[in-house]
Amino acid sequence: MRYGAVAIVDFSLSEELLAMRAHVRQFARAEIAPLAAELDAEPRFPRDTLAKMGELGLLGVLTPEDYGGAGLDTLSYVVLLEEIAAADASHATIMSVTNGLPQTMLLRYGSDEQKRRYLPRLASGEWIGAFCLSEPHAGSDAVAMTTRAQRVEGGYRLNGTKAWITGGGEADLYLVMAKTDPAAGARGVSCFLVEGGTPGMSFGRPERKLGQHAAITTTVTFDDCVVPETALLGPEGQGFVIAMASLDGGRIGIAALAVGVARAAFEAARDYANERTAFGRPIRRFQAVGFSLADMDTQIEAARMLTYRAAWLKDRGYRVTREAAQAKLFASEAAARITHDAIQVFGGYGYTKDYPVERYFRDARVTEIYEGTSEIQRMVIERQIYRDLDRR
Ligand code: CAA
Repeated sequence: MRYGAVAIVDFSLSEELLAMRAHVRQFARAEIAPLAAELDAEPRFPRDTLAKMGELGLLGVLTPEDYGGAGLDTLSYVVLLEEIAAADASHATIMSVTNGLPQTMLLRYGSDEQKRRYLPRLASGEWIGAFCLSEPHAGSDAVAMTTRAQRVEGGYRLNGTKAWITGGGEADLYLVMAKTDPAAGARGVSCFLVEGGTPGMSFGRPERKLGQHAAITTTVTFDDCVVPETALLGPEGQGFVIAMASLDGGRIGIAALAVGVARAAFEAARDYANERTAFGRPIRRFQAVGFSLADMDTQIEAARMLTYRAAWLKDRGYRVTREAAQAKLFASEAAARITHDAIQVFGGYGYTKDYPVERYFRDARVTEIYEGTSEIQRMVIERQIYRDLDRR
């Protein structure tokens, strides 16, 4: 395995990708952005627009064409994901989870039969995929999970509760990490493919969250839920490593999502500061506002470059544990700051639902928490700094 810390990065976006970006931007502005406030208020899982995203290939971006996906690389994926996030973070989170975790995990670790059964459905958007790692008492310390998978004749019996599951009750395939050997720590976790509707599976009520309301989040409980042997993804005992390696990719997606939300907030603030006058001039002419816009623009560019860098390295087969954590850490914290500062530019109006910046602010906050908190990203980066020392 090669490590990105020693790589010189050289990427540019192809004409083809720029055309795709323009197309997806237009789609997101026309079909998703106008619904975002309504979906946030209800809230409602956006089935109809997800179906349209499926038709465009956005729910199977990384999955090869042989399995019904768009067969694009990670750099293309983050470019397109940013466009969806700039229109609505909830859509982007669902896109990020189903692409970046279940499909990536199936591609890397699935048997031929598992790939053929699930990938075409997921890639087309007919099915949505969910990722079940966290538990009510085991979030950052994921190894402390207590969900059990015990061998029974012909398969496994699952018992336990998973928490914070994006698409809980709405998704069609759940990738579930459960302990097959509780005494073996991280090496005692296995990964299972559990289809929605399997007897013994139930869902909590949607969590009442600060933001990203349309990306419904619930607990998922397994009560003597029996799955066949063929539901095991990868070897028994490999589930934790599978989850961690996949989160390296997932975190690049969350970084792109954070960049998209930050960009939407910046663009709203930029336009408002040009139109709104105070003391006889547009407020952007006041240094306090102008500098704030300059800082937002600079932070977005830096976050985007870290995200592209991690994606570019991943596409070339580098292990990106450190780079993905850096991109997610920087982009999510930048998004939280930028959406906060955008409200400041709008003043009192920014605090109301008359403008979208209050939603951007609420939607951005969780990017510092899900797929690993900022504290976990710092921990991952610190560990990797010392591991990479030996490789220079
Ligand atoms: N790639 C490959 N293998 C990895 C890895 C990676 N990135 N990270 C760890 N591993 C392997 C280790 O090498 C180790 O394997 P060995 O036993 O062979 O040595 C094993 O996994 C255990 O690793 P650690 O010893 O590092 O484990 P740890 O208990 O110290 O914890 C952690 C590691 C980084 C803190 C991890 O628990 C972690 O990332 N926690 C955060 C979990 C998280 O991100 N949750 C988000 C859930 S998804 C979500 O948000 C829901 C949603 O729907 C969006």
